[in-house]
Amino acid sequence: MSTAAGQRVQMTDAQLKELAEIIYERSGIHFHPEKKYVLESRLGRRLAELEMEDYDQYIQFLTIGPYRDDEFQEMFNRITINETSFFRNEPQLQVFENQILPQLIESRNSLKRLRIWSAACSSGEEPYTLAMMVHRTLGVRLPDWHIEILGTDISQKALDVAQSGVYTSYAIRSTPQNILGQYFTQEGDAYELKEDVRSMVNFERHNLKDRLAAKRHGLWDVIFCRNVLIYFDDEMKQSVAQMFEDQLTDDGWLFIGHSESLRGLSTAFEGASIPQGFCYQKAV
Ligand SMILES: C[S@@+](CC[C@H](N)C(=O)[O-])C[C@H]1O[C@@H](n2cnc3c(N)ncnc32)[C@H](O)[C@@H]1O
Repeated sequence: MSTAAGQRVQMTDAQLKELAEIIYERSGIHFHPEKKYVLESRLGRRLAELEMEDYDQYIQFLTIGPYRDDEFQEMFNRITINETSFFRNEPQLQVFENQILPQLIESRNSLKRLRIWSAACSSGEEPYTLAMMVHRTLGVRLPDWHIEILGTDISQKALDVAQSGVYTSYAIRSTPQNILGQYFTQEGDAYELKEDVRSMVNFERHNLKDRLAAKRHGLWDVIFCRNVLIYFDDEMKQSVAQMFEDQLTDDGWLFIGHSESLRGLSTAFEGASIPQGFCYQKAV
């Protein structure tokens, strides 16, 4: 890492510890000391941009400076992985579309209200995929239903992309051809979502640490929270699992990433025995 003057700035172990504590305190993300090189390489450029001499200066800026909240966002955008795509892990999504969704439509038929929360949704590909599935499953019945799909993430930068509804060919790499034709308009490498699906999803900044903010939205019939628990330690995972328990209807469904598990973290949920797509329901 080098400053604007071209000198290399090292991160000491004490500075690493302090930065890791700030990141954990604010986001629940656990940065292992072995990942020092990741922080150094990603934040090095930021120090140079700010023309800072060392990490102590940066830590001060991040903790007591007048722009500390903005800087936390800036730093967070640089150190987190926002990897996602439309139709990511399709077998699990097929379970949602072909088994869970029809069941929910039947059980909610008198109220005609369905609420889906895609937590840690990054740039929105996941909640939009769910919206397409609801759209094509309900078909002509859609106008009779009150569908709420909320995508949340801690990163405003990711949410800005989500709200724009415009994606590159990388984001649509797993999207079936017929879906592309039905729900996107293409101009060069830009794939723009059509309004009928775009208008089904709302976005909001939310930190999974904030259980109180989650309560404002009431209960959800389905919660997706995939590929973020892997970055949390057990304490944070337990807190998030408690939030899912509080915010899910008694017969609701929880989807987490295929390499993630609630085993040993929560007794409130039990895995549903659906081959291909692992998901959870509240234990009875
Ligand atoms: C790898 S992406 C997963 C996106 C999507 N769920 C998927 O599976 O394709 C992880 C996302 O978690 C978000 N994230 C990390 N910590 C968070 C927190 N404490 N609260 C909310 N979102 C968080 C990151 O900003 C990032 O967009």
